[in-house]
Amino acid sequence: MSEVVTYNREGNIGVITVDYPPVNALSHSVRSGLVAALEQGQLDSEAKVLLLVCEGRTFIAGADIREFGKPMQEPGLPAVVRHFEDSEKPVIAAIHGTALGGGLETALGCHYRVALSSAKVGLPEVKLGLLPGAGGTQRLPRLTGAQKALEMITSGEFVGAKDALALGIVDAVDEGGDARAAGLVFAQKIADEGKPVRRVRDVTDKIEAEKGSDVFSQFRAGLEKKARGLFSPFKCVDAVEAAFNLPFDEGMKRERELFMECMESPQRAGLVHAFFAEREVSKVKGLSKDTPVRDVKSVGVIGAGTMGGGIAMNFANAGIPATIVEVKQEALDKGLGIIRKNYENSAKKGRITQQQVEERMALINGSLTYDAFRDVDLVIEAVFENMAIKKEIFAKLDGVCKPGAILASNTSTLDIDEIASATKRPEDVVGMHFFSPANVMKLLENVRGTHTSDEVKATVMAVAKKIRKVGVMVGNCHGFVGNRMLHKRGAEAMSLVNEGATPQQVDKVLTDLGYPMGQFAMSDLAGIDVGYRIREERRNAGEDVAPSWMDKLAEQNRLGQKTMAGVYKYEEGSRKPIPDPEVDQLIADFREEQGITPREITDQEILERCMYVMINEGAKILEEGIADRALDIDIVWIYGYGFPAYRGGPMFWADQIGLDTILNAVEKYHDDIGGEQWKPSALLKKLVAEGKTFGKL
Ligand code: 3HC
Repeated sequence: MSEVVTYNREGNIGVITVDYPPVNALSHSVRSGLVAALEQGQLDSEAKVLLLVCEGRTFIAGADIREFGKPMQEPGLPAVVRHFEDSEKPVIAAIHGTALGGGLETALGCHYRVALSSAKVGLPEVKLGLLPGAGGTQRLPRLTGAQKALEMITSGEFVGAKDALALGIVDAVDEGGDARAAGLVFAQKIADEGKPVRRVRDVTDKIEAEKGSDVFSQFRAGLEKKARGLFSPFKCVDAVEAAFNLPFDEGMKRERELFMECMESPQRAGLVHAFFAEREVSKVKGLSKDTPVRDVKSVGVIGAGTMGGGIAMNFANAGIPATIVEVKQEALDKGLGIIRKNYENSAKKGRITQQQVEERMALINGSLTYDAFRDVDLVIEAVFENMAIKKEIFAKLDGVCKPGAILASNTSTLDIDEIASATKRPEDVVGMHFFSPANVMKLLENVRGTHTSDEVKATVMAVAKKIRKVGVMVGNCHGFVGNRMLHKRGAEAMSLVNEGATPQQVDKVLTDLGYPMGQFAMSDLAGIDVGYRIREERRNAGEDVAPSWMDKLAEQNRLGQKTMAGVYKYEEGSRKPIPDPEVDQLIADFREEQGITPREITDQEILERCMYVMINEGAKILEEGIADRALDIDIVWIYGYGFPAYRGGPMFWADQIGLDTILNAVEKYHDDIGGEQWKPSALLKKLVAEGKTFGKL
């Protein structure tokens, strides 16, 4: 008998228990253990009914993702599920935690399902670039009908136990906290009542009723926008449709073919990389599970602007009180008003209740004095990017805050060590770089200074988790990981337009790659004045910063979305960028002024120059130890800048392209264009020479 799946009998109920921490994933050992335990149950003449339960925090959370890409070892999951469904004795699944993917598919192979009220079920394979490949696309619609099955399978969203009951996915919900006990009670009832097996594959009423309906064509049309660039959601629809057009066994065959297409797609590889990378980033070099973590029960935020307000909302959403300090009452009132409006909008959309609006607002207080920070455990400064002001603020915080309070800056570029030097406690100073809108974007780039203590590093990583962000720990340098790479891309995009490309062409190459918006649409969103101010400051400091057509935009007060005109123009109430002939003219005039003869620029050149310049910078970031691993950079870009997760992040993408291809291009641009940005990274060269990748440094 397998160690991870055991069989025992309680009265006339044969109990099959899976115990494979952390999430009872269906590894080869679990699959073969399930088959063996089921067989034992069949042979046990005292067992009238069989019960499948799991130990630990959850029911089976799906196939073992670590086995993907390796040769399949029998028995495969569809066969395991089939064994359960074929059982002559009724099998009951007792679900706690989450029954996901192959876990739910196994439960659907059982004849009855009982779930704890806290449990959730779902088929999240699509998030890994897959479709449910063990009968989920064939069995779920037999219970729920086409529409709901399509929604669940193409979104991967989980459904709570009560909704699952209403949808017919589970047969009973138990209010207790013990799945084994709930399962035993349910199983005893089935045994006592002599209930027969009930196989989902034989349930056909919904299949018959919806055969030939136009639900599939309608659903596909809706997906075109939602799943732009993605492969597997469309395959999910094909597979569910097969449940309605084909007999069960043929539908299963079709599901398998489509599943294998997804399994072999590069998107699956990218999404699985992103899945593990998201979990790996929480393991920070130098920290361990034993590193002490400070309790953060209250926070202070400096600045009630868009950033400060968004930051405070994150904490209120997690039930942690936040006090915002502003200089003027008017600015404070305005900021608090915007926060309320944001919450009210969420309530209008049904995302939260009106009561939650009030509860969260009650957790956010305003003040005009730093005295309000005397007892807080963490203060996050979110004023504009000016070192002198930040240092003044940190000196003040040092005087006011209690010992042990963490002093954080939301700076997106500035030197954390210099900020920390304004205090007598640099070990408590750290960067916490949120991304706008701060209450929405999932990334939290935590920046360690030279003196930041391990305890403080561990605490800000824990805080990220608490406020449901993905925290990535990075080192201190101008722009850290994300903006340092972004600035290189921005400068290159601007040069491409100088040389002859149009802003639309550049943006299209980036959106075709899968970014939600291109470089220039993003500049319009952030404000053209932001980059302009930085360039002006550098010029004033005596740096040689080339003139740009974007300076002209700023000088004409075309500041982006906020003035309804920037690189693009905008219509009242719309964020859709519209190409503007006036800007084309401005660019043409600029080229003439600079004596530039525009040339045809290919999309390939745009792709290479915008992306490879970032990869080269990413390699330098690794070389300097600013990021510990390439996957940290990948997560920064996926969650901070909308890099398509299905490409796994920029560094993973680079590995797929081939580092030798990238190095060749970088060297070519270094010869043709020159500049520090095209100087090949030593690490990139070393990896190519050694035939290695960023993923296997
Ligand atoms: N396979 C292998 N490892 C898994 C796993 C899986 N399916 N699911 C989670 N893990 C690992 C994680 O990598 C992590 O490992 P680590 O501690 O070494 O970093 C550990 O389990 C705990 O995971 P989380 O940190 O994510 O724990 P949470 O409690 O926050 O979340 C969860 C638990 C909701 C189960 C979440 O892990 C999750 O969503 N897992 C993926 C579920 C999934 O996608 N299932 C479908 C798989 S594909 C499939 O089933 C194909 C089939 O149709 C044929």
